[in-house]
Amino acid sequence: MSQRMQQGQPMIVMSEDSQRVKDKDAQDYNISAARAVAESVRSTLGPKGMDKMLVDSMGSVTITNDGVTILQEMDIDNPTAEMIIEVAETQEDEAGDGTTTAVAIAGELLKNAEDLIEQDIHPTAIIKGFHMASEQAREEIDDIAQDVDTDDEELLRSVAETSMTGKGTEVNKEYLAELIIDAVSQVTVENEDGDNVVDLEFLNIETQTGRSAGESDLLEGGIIDKDPVHDNMPTEATDADILLLNSPIEVEETDIDTEVSVTDPDQLQQFLDREEKQLKEKVEQIVDTGADVVFCQKGIDDLAQHYLAKEGILAVRRAKKSDLEFLSEVVGASVVTDLANASAEDLGHGDVTRDDEDELFYVEGEDAHGVTLLLAGSTDHVVDELERGVHDALDVVAQTVSDGRVLAGGGAIEVELASRLRDYADSVSGREQLAVEAFADSLELVPRVLAENAGLDSIDTLVDLRAAHDDGDVEAGLNVFTGDVEDTFEAGVVEPAHAKEQAVTSAAEAANLVLKIDDIISAGDLSTDKGGDEEGGAPGGGMGGMGGGMGGMM
Ligand SMILES: Nc1ncnc2c1ncn2[C@@H]1O[C@H](COP(=O)(O)OP(=O)(O)OP(=O)(O)O)[C@@H](O)[C@H]1O
Ligand SMILES: [Mg+2]
Repeated sequence: MSQRMQQGQPMIVMSEDSQRVKDKDAQDYNISAARAVAESVRSTLGPKGMDKMLVDSMGSVTITNDGVTILQEMDIDNPTAEMIIEVAETQEDEAGDGTTTAVAIAGELLKNAEDLIEQDIHPTAIIKGFHMASEQAREEIDDIAQDVDTDDEELLRSVAETSMTGKGTEVNKEYLAELIIDAVSQVTVENEDGDNVVDLEFLNIETQTGRSAGESDLLEGGIIDKDPVHDNMPTEATDADILLLNSPIEVEETDIDTEVSVTDPDQLQQFLDREEKQLKEKVEQIVDTGADVVFCQKGIDDLAQHYLAKEGILAVRRAKKSDLEFLSEVVGASVVTDLANASAEDLGHGDVTRDDEDELFYVEGEDAHGVTLLLAGSTDHVVDELERGVHDALDVVAQTVSDGRVLAGGGAIEVELASRLRDYADSVSGREQLAVEAFADSLELVPRVLAENAGLDSIDTLVDLRAAHDDGDVEAGLNVFTGDVEDTFEAGVVEPAHAKEQAVTSAAEAANLVLKIDDIISAGDLSTDKGGDEEGGAPGGGMGGMGGGMGGMM
């Protein structure tokens, strides 16, 4: 009976604090939030892109050009904006580079979608058109991409340098590219099918401040950035048996706090003797395994240090867990937890050498399965940005080595894709055709922004590029240094195809996700910062907060 009564009237299911935005308003809200995010990274795109300085609430500073890092560090407080940040994160995970491109394209897709919505084209048609266009774009990328010889060092160098241009890595990019190509080749193996498999797990990056990037180096093996625990220990060991230990060489503490009340000196002595015996036993267990070197993740008691030194064993305490795990690959050891049951089988084999100047140990395995890229930079900020740049370059080189497909950069691929998508649009019927065309226009954002950031006229550039592509010049791109339209592949501006495919796909998916929403129901104010300082109010207020915050930063 009561049920029937409710059917007639609107049922109120939301609390008073909650908010609801529907239809066109919801779309407007979402699109402008997403576009604001995309706008914020645009100025960093390309070799002439600028950097951003991000200051977090604790006052710590990050200076970067890396799209995903900027978005992650920005204190964004908006659910839609966070969906766009996910695009950057997916791009980072899947491809390593191209995060700015992916986000910028997503923003442009939404901008163009907004125009279509204004023309009364239903979002469903736009979504379908975008999806079709992105599928087609992937096929075209595969068709345009060149298959290359993955041993071609010259080409790998171009790929690495293209990725590093305009970043903190720029000044030393030739040298760093050498190191990166070397590093990747050391962790590449050929599988049964003859395909290259690159395992970046075996590549470790260590950073050092106080020196120039040109002093960066590639080491076969790993490093331990610690001192030996005792002065009388050897500092080097060649052909050594190495124990990696993650339990302490200390007196075992009882679980319950025990109070020892000593009534006469003999008792104290007994107690100390017992401790000494325990430590001696542990050291003997180590000696029994045959270890010459112990890298311990936990502490080593003073007395145990003394015994170890007497045995001529090199020991290090409080080594980083990640370093031990990496070393276990380098020297082929297992990380031992239970010393009592450790045996010679758990040990690894290799050479340990000491770098006195930097106060660290180099550990090289017999057939080193693992390399360390030692990145140097003058200060923390410099070296952090260097590391991000090197990471991107490592990923694109690794992709090129395993995938073998590359493209001309500098906007060449985007303009070619746009032109092919416009041809494709002719075969698409209905309103989806307009969406496919809008998709093509969106891709051309890349050369436009590259030109803009280089202080060139973006419209002139695009006109020249389109003309070149109409003439069949598939690799015509913008050389931002000369301002000329030329064959960028020949000029050494080369990108892996996989990263581009990923950027186009994730941009399209994110745009579609945003477009599909016609109703925003929010429990409380429309911000993702729970308990944040933003007062409630209309969603416009929340968004204004975001725009304002970012406006302050840019
Ligand atoms: N010498 C060059 N001339 C013209 N364009 C270049 C040159 N070197 C690189 N590019 C272009 O710059 C773009 C990449 O810029 P950038 O590295 O700033 O952004 P991203 O790779 O999309 O994002 P991020 O590196 O922040 O993850 C690519 O389109 C690439 O082709
Ligand atoms: Mg890049």
